[in-house]
Amino acid sequence: MSHAMIRGTGSYIPDKVLTNSDFEKMVDTSDDWIVERTGIKERHVLNGTGNVRSCADMATIAGRRAIEDAGLKPTDIDCIVVGTVTPDYPLPAVATMVQENLQVGRAVVMDIVAACAGFLYGLTVARAFVNTGVSRNVLVIGSEHLTSITNYEDRNTCVLFGDGAGGAVVTAGRPGEEGRGILSTFLSGDGQYRELLHIPLGGALNPLTPENVESPDRFIKMDGREVFKLAVREMTDACDRVLAEAGVTSDQLDMVIPHQANARIIEALGKKLHVNSERVYRNIERFGNTSSASVPIALDEARRTGKVGEGSLILSVAFGGGLVWGAALYRL
Ligand code: ACO
Repeated sequence: MSHAMIRGTGSYIPDKVLTNSDFEKMVDTSDDWIVERTGIKERHVLNGTGNVRSCADMATIAGRRAIEDAGLKPTDIDCIVVGTVTPDYPLPAVATMVQENLQVGRAVVMDIVAACAGFLYGLTVARAFVNTGVSRNVLVIGSEHLTSITNYEDRNTCVLFGDGAGGAVVTAGRPGEEGRGILSTFLSGDGQYRELLHIPLGGALNPLTPENVESPDRFIKMDGREVFKLAVREMTDACDRVLAEAGVTSDQLDMVIPHQANARIIEALGKKLHVNSERVYRNIERFGNTSSASVPIALDEARRTGKVGEGSLILSVAFGGGLVWGAALYRL
């Protein structure tokens, strides 16, 4: 059996920034409240102009950068998996647009709807495909145009979300790379909680009509307090499981790179895992919550700034609407 590993990473962050003071002019909120309750100071958003206007556009750039970083050519990629809840169109998949944009040629192409856990779901698929010989070189991307489904009149949610994309190339390890690779993964979900974080309108069952097109139900609705509690509990459990499966203890970790939903969730997770804050990666203050893109953006940033590198043992974990969650333990 091959041994799947992350060989390259890439990301894309839009230029336009929304600061907390911008939100003070839009809804009844304050910089103090947002920083204290979420840790977010600013988030980057698509601005609807130029060449980069959508989920697929961002995914394409992040994917191109990851392929280059892996030292591969687009035509080496034989599978593209995109985690997203904000595809450009209901049909076809964003992965098909990335394939076309990058001139990958014939490949397995699919999207995964697993909200903030989309990248880790994709990474687990990539690992399975590589380990079983279904694919050789898998491009896994998390890309989100979250501002397209954000209600800028709802202070409970609008301050949280940003846009962006990140990706990784997963390939088989080569001779001399023993010990590196994706060591264990865990995925789970529980649909009984689906209404804690959902978009009621706009799907095939409740389509948009002239009568409801202005309804706030076309945007994300979230019971943040309940999601918060479940997130800490289930992310801790997912981390414990992947560590146990690989026979690793948390003091051996070089870095925890978690989903960036809330600084308090990240702190609580670090405490539960007994990992000090220097080893828990945080960039939520600059990007907000970018859903499936947050883990690969953070991983790419951590690699490019030298906070992690070849040989680093990393634990990533994410939690989001569904509810769905997952974790992965890997050595770069
Ligand atoms: N500014 C000022 N006040 C606010 C704001 C705001 N932006 N937002 C909410 N409040 C108010 C509320 O109205 C409430 O007021 P009330 O007590 O008078 O009703 C008060 O602040 C406290 O509200 P809570 O919901 O209890 O605030 P909390 O401390 O839980 O923070 C938050 C809210 C930030 C949303 C938090 O619960 C959270 O981060 N939850 C988890 C989110 C998450 O992980 N989502 C999953 C991923 S997202 C995805 O899948 C796309």
